[in-house]
Order: sequence, then structure tokens, then C-alpha cells
Amino acid sequence: MCGIVGYVGDRPALDVVVDGLARLEYRGYDSAGVAVLAGGTIDSAKRAGKLANLRAALEERPLAEGTVGIGHTRWATHGAPTDVNAHPHLDCTGSVAVIHNGIIENFATLRRDLEERGHELLSETDTEAVAHLLEEEMPEAGGLAEAMRRVCRKLEGAFTLLAVDTADPGAVVAARRNSPLVVGRGDGENFLASDVAAFIAHTRDAVELGQDQVVELRRDSFTVTDFFGHPAAYNEYHVDWDASAAEKGGYDYFMLKEIAEQPQAVADTLLGRAGLDGTLALDEMRLSDEDLRDIDKIVIVACGTASHAGMIAKYAIEHWSRLPCEMELASEFRYRDPILDRQTLVIAISQSGETMDTLMAVRHAKEQGARLLSICNVNGSSIPRECDAVLYTHAGPEVAVASTKAFLTQLVAVYLVALYLAQVRGIKYTDEITAVISQLAAMPEKVEKVLDIVEPVREVARSLASEKCVLFLGRHVGFPVALEGALKLKELAYMHAEGFAAGELKHGPIALIEDGVPVVVVVPSPRGRSVLHNKIVSNIQEIRARGARTIVIAEEGDEAVVQYADTLIRIPDVPTLLQPLVSTVPLQVFACELATAKGHDVDQPRNLAKSVTVE
Ligand code: G6P
Repeated sequence: MCGIVGYVGDRPALDVVVDGLARLEYRGYDSAGVAVLAGGTIDSAKRAGKLANLRAALEERPLAEGTVGIGHTRWATHGAPTDVNAHPHLDCTGSVAVIHNGIIENFATLRRDLEERGHELLSETDTEAVAHLLEEEMPEAGGLAEAMRRVCRKLEGAFTLLAVDTADPGAVVAARRNSPLVVGRGDGENFLASDVAAFIAHTRDAVELGQDQVVELRRDSFTVTDFFGHPAAYNEYHVDWDASAAEKGGYDYFMLKEIAEQPQAVADTLLGRAGLDGTLALDEMRLSDEDLRDIDKIVIVACGTASHAGMIAKYAIEHWSRLPCEMELASEFRYRDPILDRQTLVIAISQSGETMDTLMAVRHAKEQGARLLSICNVNGSSIPRECDAVLYTHAGPEVAVASTKAFLTQLVAVYLVALYLAQVRGIKYTDEITAVISQLAAMPEKVEKVLDIVEPVREVARSLASEKCVLFLGRHVGFPVALEGALKLKELAYMHAEGFAAGELKHGPIALIEDGVPVVVVVPSPRGRSVLHNKIVSNIQEIRARGARTIVIAEEGDEAVVQYADTLIRIPDVPTLLQPLVSTVPLQVFACELATAKGHDVDQPRNLAKSVTVE
């Protein structure tokens, strides 16, 4: 939610900052702006709409040249996405410029007080108040960093703030509370950003800042303090992917590239998990086996696509480890007074590690004494930092707003956790676990196979571009897959799409079926649980009898469904619990192709942002 970049060095700051914003645009794309310190003044530009609009404005009127600058891409919270509300915001004198990610909850009071003291605020944003508060603090503080600390002590809510001041043209000052911020350390240049992707082309040496910290960034140094000026601890790390991983690599959209990367992402997430004796080794997960044996209940919290991984986790965890497991939407979790104690393991699943709803659920669980594990794709992000343990997925950077490869790697991670719990609790023998691990090891190849035979999905997707509504049905782990297929279509094609548990159909949703309504059905394997398979075959017949156009996703060799499928999409045969790893892929391709056929930008769907750092 909002992308932020800061630069201090000897290169033209504008180029570095705008390049960084291009890599962060997935975080928000309602408007964009930049400010450069040059010749003792601040030169800035900002435009509503995507970064392209700002670039066009900069071509028309280039900014003065300077080597210190800040930039912002916005996902609007306070105030519509207009030129005026775009960041940066300046104080009354034009000597301080501020950009901001997050929400300042007490901004209405701050703004009223500022106006009473004679400040003129031009926008409707909460951010602008910060510029004016800095202006007020500056004379006594004697410098931007101290002024920032004083202002932060007055702010409530979540924020990453970056500011520049004409009185100190060699520095960018930043602050963070509950919102992401990383420093990139270069040679004779330093960077600030919401995400390492912004500076990965220049350096892979990063510094993760803690909560409630202020950093003063200069060409050759950076100084970190808390909000009271005490030196503060931070964590340095090396990013293990490079700039090419965050580029489109010949694909038209990041989403297409990320779908294609799934076999590798699944393989990378599995890498090194099996111990020498055949047992599962999750060394990085810093919860002891004693801690895990003590657990008597699991609660999963997550949002969006990650919540569908959580639903699938419930099936795997209960089946393999025999522990009761609930999955709860993170945004609902803390408001219903959940029953948690030291024997509850709360698992937070989040690609970004920054989703505010999930972070708040984690904090609530911590207060109640629960143990906390996160499954996360972004190293050093807020959620894993606040949990007792983390299992990182190794999907690499995911840029498209609609999650694809991160979802598949979340599934791998939850399977590993479920098996590990079974192992430490003595529910499964080593050879049983080894058998599932080798089934998992075969999955990258199976996912590759789906991608090879996915052309019929594209064809049917294009043929449905003018439909108003598509329904998705599934049973067992196919139910969350149906929900995920529907979510993808809503996100990308802006179509009415609903996922249902196929058994629920007769309790209401079947009334939606009329002549020609497209229904995608995820069919479980006929092997193993034949009862599930038989039930869904009946469901397909029920909807077909009422006129539905059926698009059936079924395992190779499943002949029972052929006569009921208007379109048949084949997936490789895999064990029942692992089927989401292959059955989700055609649904991703379906949504992507249908949205593209409708002329939508699938990487940046309207109204959405990849990392949602507000509640
Ligand atoms: C946003 C994105 C979704 C994503 C959800 C959870 O809403 O648009 O694609 O699934 O956040 O994100 P997380 O980073 O916590 O997995």
C-alpha cells in the first residue's frame, strides 16, 4: 500500500527514484510524485493516475538536477486520487517535502490545530499535516531528524514517512511505525524504500529497521534512533535475488511470468527440507519440538489468496497431524474474542508479511499468549519479525497484484508444517512422511505439465469475455480452489464470480443456474476418495440439467466426467490433498486470459494494491 523511495548519492536522484517507483508501482497506482533537492530549493512534480502520467509530466517539465530525492506511488486512503492529493506534500514555506505510507489516525485533530495556528493545508490528505508539523518543530529541534522524532511522538496510527529539508541538502530522513521501510546500502550512495525491489538494481545489501525508528540517511552513512533519539538496533542482511527476478523477462505481464515460474518456486520452497535420515527438517523454524508437542489447537489467520492457502492447510493439518485446526480471516479474528492460550499455535500466512489485518491478528494472538508461526515470502518483513518462528516460502519477488506463485509456495509450506507436526507428535512413521515428501518432490514437474497443456483454458476464457457471471464449484480441498478461481476472476476481470462448496449448491446457489451460465468445476481424483468424486459427478449433472455450460477440471484418465463436460481441462493425477497445487494453475490462467481479452491490465487491477498496510 503506497510505494516509497528515497535516494542520497551522486547520481541524478530523479532517475534513481523514478526507476525505484516503477518497481514499486504494484503497491499502489492511484497517483505518483517526486521531489528533488537542488540548489537550495525543493523541485517537485506529482500526477494523478499511473506512473506513466508522472513520467509524461516530467518530460514536459524536467525537474532541476539534484542528487537527493524522494518519490511515492499512492493507494489513496485520505482524499481522492487527484494531483493535489498526490505526494509529496510541502509545508507553508516550501522548504520541507514529505511522503507517507499508512494512515495517521489523529490527523483530523492535528489538522484543525494546525489551521488554527495559521497553516494553510492544500490537500485532503493526512500526510500534509506532517509537513506542517515538521515546519513548526524545525526551529527548536535544530535539524530534520530531531524534528521528525518530535513529530512522530505526536502521531497515532501507521506510517512510513520520508522527508527532505532545504536546510540540510545532503540528507533524507525517514521514520516508521507499523509500516514497511528498508535501507539499501550502496557505495557512496544509500537508498530508502518500502521494499528492496526499489533498489535491487543498485545494491543487495539491506538494513531492516525496527518499529518506531527514525533513520537519517546520508551519502556515506545512516544513523538509526528510536523516537526519543536513543541509538537503536537494526538488522543487516543480504538479498538473495537480483534485479532480473523483479523484471518481466520477455513476458507481457508480471502475472504471466509469475505463473510460469511456479514449478521453480515450488521446487525452491521444498529445497533442503528433508533431513539425512529421511525425516523432515525445518531448522529455520525456531519453535522447539517440545513446544510443538505441547500444542493442542491450531488457528490460521490470513487474508485474500493467503486465506485460501489457510483453508487448504486445515485439511492437511487435521488429516496428517490430527490436531484441530481453524482458519479465520485475519480481519475478523481479533474482533470476536477468540479463545487462545499457550497451547494454541497461530499460523499467519502472508506473501508480503505486511498485511495490516494479519499483523494485527498476530499481535492479538501474542497478547493472549499463543505461540506464533508465520509463513511468509518477504524476508525481514513485519509479520515474521513479530512471530516466534517463520517458514519462508521461496517464491522470489511477486510483483503482479494477483497472487500466483506465492500461493503455490504457501501450499507447499503448509504441507510441510502439517507433516512436521505429524512427525514431532509421533502420528506418522518416518516412511509415511518420506512417501509424502517424495510426492511433493514430484509436484514441480506436474505443475510444469499443467502449464504445457493449458491452451484449451485460454480458448474457453476468451470465449467467455462477454459473460456477466462465472461460478466455481469444488469439494474438499477443491472448495478453497474454487474460491481462489472466483477471487482471481473478480480481481482481474471485474466480473461477478462466486466459488461454492459443491454440496452447498442445492441449499441456494443452484437457483443461479440458468441457460448458458458458465460453471467451472474442480473434480477430485477418482482414485482414493471415490465417494467425493461420485458426489461431484452428480453435482455436475444437476447443473447441466438446468442449462449450465460446464468447464470441468479433472484428472487425466477420469472418464466418468467426459460426457458432462462442455469443456474438459486435464490435470495430472496427484494425491487428493496435493491436488490444489495443480488444479489452481488453470484457474489462474483462465482469469488472466479472460481479463486480458477484456483489455484489462492484469498486473495492476483497479482499486487494488498488492500489499495492504491499512486495516
Ligand atoms: C491483497 C492482495 C491479495 C493478497 C492479500 C493478502 O488484498 O491484493 O492478492 O492475497 O492482499 O496479502 P498477503 O501479502 O498478506 O499474502
